[in-house]
Amino acid sequence: MPDLVPSVEELVSLSKEEARERLEDLREKVREHNYHYYVEKSPRISDRQYDRLFSALQKIEERFPDLMTPDSPTQRVGGEPMEGFESVEHTRRMLSLDATRERPQLERFLSRVKDAAGSGDWRIIAEPKLDGASVELVYEDGTLVRGLTRGNGRVGDDVTPNLKTVGSVPLRLRGDQRPVPSFLSVRGEVMMFKSGFQELNRRLVENGENPFANPRNAAAGALQQLDPSISADRPLEFLAYEILRIEDGDLGRDSEVVKALTDWGFAVPDEISTVGELDELLDYHAHWSDNREELDYEIDGVVFKVDDHSLRESMGETSHHPRWALAYKFEPRREVTRVEEIAVQVGRTGLLTPVALLRPVEVGGVTVSRASLHNPSELARKDVRRGDKVRVQRAGDVIPEVVERINEPGRKREEPFQMPPVCPSCGTEIVTEGPLARCPNTYGCPAQLKGRIQHFGSPPGLDIDGLGEETVSALVERGYVKQLSDLFKLKKEDLLQLDGWGDKSAENLLGQIERSRKIELQRFLYALGIPEVGEATARDLARHFGTLADLRNASRSQLEEVERVGPKVAEAIHGFFREEHNRKAIDGLLEAGLEITEEEGARGEAFEGLRFVFTGALDSMSRDQAQELVESLGGRATSSVSSRTDYVVIGEDPGSKAEKAREEDLEFLDEEGFLKMLRDAGALE
Ligand code: IVH
Repeated sequence: MPDLVPSVEELVSLSKEEARERLEDLREKVREHNYHYYVEKSPRISDRQYDRLFSALQKIEERFPDLMTPDSPTQRVGGEPMEGFESVEHTRRMLSLDATRERPQLERFLSRVKDAAGSGDWRIIAEPKLDGASVELVYEDGTLVRGLTRGNGRVGDDVTPNLKTVGSVPLRLRGDQRPVPSFLSVRGEVMMFKSGFQELNRRLVENGENPFANPRNAAAGALQQLDPSISADRPLEFLAYEILRIEDGDLGRDSEVVKALTDWGFAVPDEISTVGELDELLDYHAHWSDNREELDYEIDGVVFKVDDHSLRESMGETSHHPRWALAYKFEPRREVTRVEEIAVQVGRTGLLTPVALLRPVEVGGVTVSRASLHNPSELARKDVRRGDKVRVQRAGDVIPEVVERINEPGRKREEPFQMPPVCPSCGTEIVTEGPLARCPNTYGCPAQLKGRIQHFGSPPGLDIDGLGEETVSALVERGYVKQLSDLFKLKKEDLLQLDGWGDKSAENLLGQIERSRKIELQRFLYALGIPEVGEATARDLARHFGTLADLRNASRSQLEEVERVGPKVAEAIHGFFREEHNRKAIDGLLEAGLEITEEEGARGEAFEGLRFVFTGALDSMSRDQAQELVESLGGRATSSVSSRTDYVVIGEDPGSKAEKAREEDLEFLDEEGFLKMLRDAGALE
């Protein structure tokens, strides 16, 4: 290849006309090679040759800034960090998919399709259900003008700069195979391929950062970055699967859509196939359920869609999903292995979890050597003993669990497993709470101490800046902090012993601790990490009782008088304050100089007067956390839908509340929409 990168002299002598021509040529070349590399996955030139083309393009654009175009390949990683995301309406509602694991539901789907088709054509397109984040890309005259997250389906976040960094998102549609439409809106999935994901996590761990739990979170998280250079650094991919809107109507059938998308330069899943009768649908599902590990991306099921668009039209849609498509999900991955040992783990809140240590077994590409048995009563119910054969499962990204014991008639079994009478971490006698077992040595048990301290110093608690995971670990491991009150006895000399600590950092932390000595009751209550007591309950308790002494001595029924405190929560609080270890720890703190003040903390008012109902599971947080967040912002989280409900937040597998809400025509939010509201209110980053 001739030397493409112009020298300084050349640049200076280049006329604007010449530059324009060179730019056009260079852009076309870079685009073409991008396509071979990112979409076809088969580069035709070396990285070095590509870099030369690219930097030639960059140099000339720098010399003639007014010749820059927004769809130039150099504009993928351009933008400045954004202030926030703008909410923009989708060109068409981005509906969800109806999903099932039950064969009868699949059969009903198929017969509805046939009924609707009558004597007409009812071919079905089968494709993988991609496990990423759904987005809309909008093209005007072939140029990418906008990219939105799905949001609540009606409006999404404008994340165009982030999407531009994705190599397989065309900045400009190809027009060599078929004409480029004047308007095109495409729906597809932004994903992280498994290989890229592993590489990214390896890098994160190397740099001492936390790895991502799974490719979906990593991909969705990357889209939500305000700084596009972060998205650019993440190995994102885009696969297209639907046209949301196109000028001049419609392409008639889905098979034609897939072909058109490919012609315009999109990557589409390779595994798309046409099916018809039930056995073909089942075969397709079984095939990918068995072979999903072959793919370089995560899929969690397959999707069946009516091919013919006029048939789609006649089948219609609900407010949630089209009636012409069904996701048929995979069963969680399961394997059989043997239990080598049963161990008991003490969690950060003192709960004892029995864990089966397994003969290592590969479950869907991941080697599993331990699986949760949840709690003593589950363990007893499943009657799992050392040496038993068990079935383990890994569903999505959750911790592997033992599903069941496999009976082996005639085999001599070990004795039933006994939970230890004392905590394996600190030797304190265990207390049982219904099906659960807990170590009551809340602030003295080494297994709990680090987590407790971190919680104690977290922003809703004492808000001690500088008490992060690493510092806490060092303080506990060096023996400077053996119980909570030791925090208030720390000396500068102690801190200077820690790796990397100097005068300034030591003084900062001590200053922070000093500042937190005076603390409002509600924050103190939160900081203690009493079971069942989050920010909202801590506030209610503080308001109701006013002083720590009154709360400490309250009976169960007095506790139940507090708004939103039911028998279970009352029991937990009561139990907490009856426990000797906890009473001592609190006294210790007061003796060390902690002082509880009356002052009311400043509270968010952003959700003042708004009522939320949650149905279905959220990915990013538990239902409780979501409700606490709402309440901490001044809103109410109620459990049933009524005409006074302002928002219904719909998670995965929503229950009947969603139906009811639909009938009442209430405002819906999906998880992303809810997170957006929280972010807007400043409750989330
Ligand atoms: S079609 C309304 N096709 O799964 C029909 N969606 O769990 C439009 N998804 O939000 C969607 N793979 O984003 C379609 N092959 C596929 C898909 C797919 C994954 C996503 C989609 C939806 C989610 C539902």
